[in-house]
Amino acid sequence: MRAQLGRRYRLSASHRLHTEALSEAENRAVYGKCANPHGHGHNYTVEVLVGGEIDAATGMVCDLTRLDGWVSREVLEPFDHQNLNTLEAFQNLVPTTENLCIEIQKRLRKVLPGDLTVTVRVEETSNNFFEYRPEGA
Ligand code: NI
Repeated sequence: MRAQLGRRYRLSASHRLHTEALSEAENRAVYGKCANPHGHGHNYTVEVLVGGEIDAATGMVCDLTRLDGWVSREVLEPFDHQNLNTLEAFQNLVPTTENLCIEIQKRLRKVLPGDLTVTVRVEETSNNFFEYRPEGA
C-alpha cells in the first residue's frame, strides 16, 4: 500500500529578482518592486511530500527523523537567513520561488532513497505558492 507523507519547514531568506539578460528598465517592467537593488525578504514555508510504499515492519513511508536530517542539511542550513542571490545555486539562475522550489526538489532527490517520490511546494506569501515534481521523481 502506497501513501504520501507531508512535512512542513520554515525558511527565511532574501532575494532580488533581476537578470543580466534584461536592461534595468526591462527588469523593472518584469519584476516590479522585486527588482529593487536592495532586495527584500520572505518567510517561506517549504512543504516536502514524500511518497512510497508503507513499510510492513515500521508502518511508515519514511522515517521523519531521517527526513528532517536531510532537509536540514540540504536545504535549511545552506538557505536559511541567506541572501539567495549570493549563493552558488543562483549565480546563473534568477532566485524566483519557482527556481527555489526546483533547486530544493533536486537537492532532496539526490539524497532521498530512490524508491520514494519527492514533491516540493514552496509558499512565498499567503497568496503565492509553487510546486515541483518532475516526471518519474
Ligand atoms: Ni520576493
